[in-house]
Amino acid sequence: MSVSEGMKKYNTKNYLVRMINLLDEETKFSKTKIQPWTRVHELKTKIGKEYGVSNKNVRLFFCNIEMIDDLTMLDYKVIDCKQPEIFFQISSTNTTITDIRIEVYGAFPCPLIMKKSIEEIRHGFMEGLIPNMLLEGTSGTYSLRNTNKDTVALFKPIDEEAFAPNNQKGYTGKFGQESFRRGVLSGEGSIREVAAYILDSANFFFVPETTFVEITHPVFNKNLNDLFSIDGDSIGKIRNSIIHSFVLENLVSRDVLFGDSTKKRDRINSVINPSHFAKLNVNTSNKFNGVLSNSKVNTVTPSGEIKDNLIKKKYGSLQRFMKSNDIAANYSNSLFSVDEVHKIGVLDLRILNCDRNDENILVVKKRDKLTGKSFYRLVPIDHSLSFPDCIKIQEYEMVWMSWDQSQKPFSKEMLKYIDQIDIEKDIKRMRQIIKLREVLNYFKLFRIAGKISEFQIQF
Ligand SMILES: Nc1ncnc2c1ncn2[C@@H]1O[C@H](COP(=O)(O)OP(=O)(O)O)[C@@H](O)[C@H]1O
Ligand SMILES: [Mg+2]
Repeated sequence: MSVSEGMKKYNTKNYLVRMINLLDEETKFSKTKIQPWTRVHELKTKIGKEYGVSNKNVRLFFCNIEMIDDLTMLDYKVIDCKQPEIFFQISSTNTTITDIRIEVYGAFPCPLIMKKSIEEIRHGFMEGLIPNMLLEGTSGTYSLRNTNKDTVALFKPIDEEAFAPNNQKGYTGKFGQESFRRGVLSGEGSIREVAAYILDSANFFFVPETTFVEITHPVFNKNLNDLFSIDGDSIGKIRNSIIHSFVLENLVSRDVLFGDSTKKRDRINSVINPSHFAKLNVNTSNKFNGVLSNSKVNTVTPSGEIKDNLIKKKYGSLQRFMKSNDIAANYSNSLFSVDEVHKIGVLDLRILNCDRNDENILVVKKRDKLTGKSFYRLVPIDHSLSFPDCIKIQEYEMVWMSWDQSQKPFSKEMLKYIDQIDIEKDIKRMRQIIKLREVLNYFKLFRIAGKISEFQIQF
């Protein structure tokens, strides 16, 4: 049997993939055979049959990226994995624009405290509390509240990051364009918030618990920009990323996404392959500029109306809201202990943070249980410019570098922590959870960063 050009290195045999139900572990469908050219909608049909539902009610996630109907297992590189796992979720298709929802996206880990917060936020939504945008910062950060109107978590949607299409703080841009630092593209920041937490899930550095969610709320529909665009040079890089799923849902109408896939194949492929972007009836000359109001596949009218058959979802990080006394910028750094400052510094080296200004550190006054003395805990926030694929940082972007504490030797506890760092284990774990962009140089840099911190200690 001959195979097409792109499939040459693959065998025509069947591959076995483990199927995991996101909602119920005792799945009716635990393993299935796939071939490189099996299309996502074919797999959905198989699962749908088992559960007695249409394939439109099945959602599939691979490496926490929602799989798009007309793509193949080869497109997602499922068969490149030694033990591939695809997560599925049986969902309702009769969601309308008026539905208000908050769910963990795909199989992102969600610590218990965040599960509870999500439940509280749902109740808040039911009582009519809306997400409120904070004035601080350059990206869209929304406070989500419980029924007592206390903020329990902060939501940072990917499309409102600095230089993303729906930013409302004066930094509107194209998805995938260069952001405030080289090495992180716009729309990629929220996922890095989750990555930083995953690296610190043992809570050594006090990174607040963070997960990744999808939210449907009418408040967000009002904020959508007519100009919805992607940086043409980055299309290849953000292919198969969460940005790509978001773009698909917003550029291509729900009918096209979930309708008869054989008829609509060309349109769906067009979002995946840069050369096919032209088929979306948008200008691809140099920079891709998808103006929804001019496109046949419009989902938003020029007046901002949303077509009624459309779900407007927002994707983004959801982080535990930490009660604090203030930000570090409003304190003299001499009040902070050597250990607290070292924790911020070592975390920044580990995650290759490019934005540790003193507004990205919360200060919480605490009392030591043993001595009864009060001290200031430093809580690191805003890791959206971490894990870059190249490093170009100025000394002043790392506020702790100019603080005296950074010249002092590490404590025994810190040395012990550094000694047990297992970079390969961290990389493996992160890869299972997050699909950082494939061109990413990051893991190479991550290994080097690990070596540098070891070297500093020996020195
Ligand atoms: N986990 C958190 N707990 C409490 N406040 C937070 C938290 N994360 C962010 N904030 C507040 O929200 C502001 C904006 O968040 P940040 O993550 O710094 O966004 P930006 O990327 O726009 O700088 C911060 O300056 C801080 O006041
Ligand atoms: Mg910030």
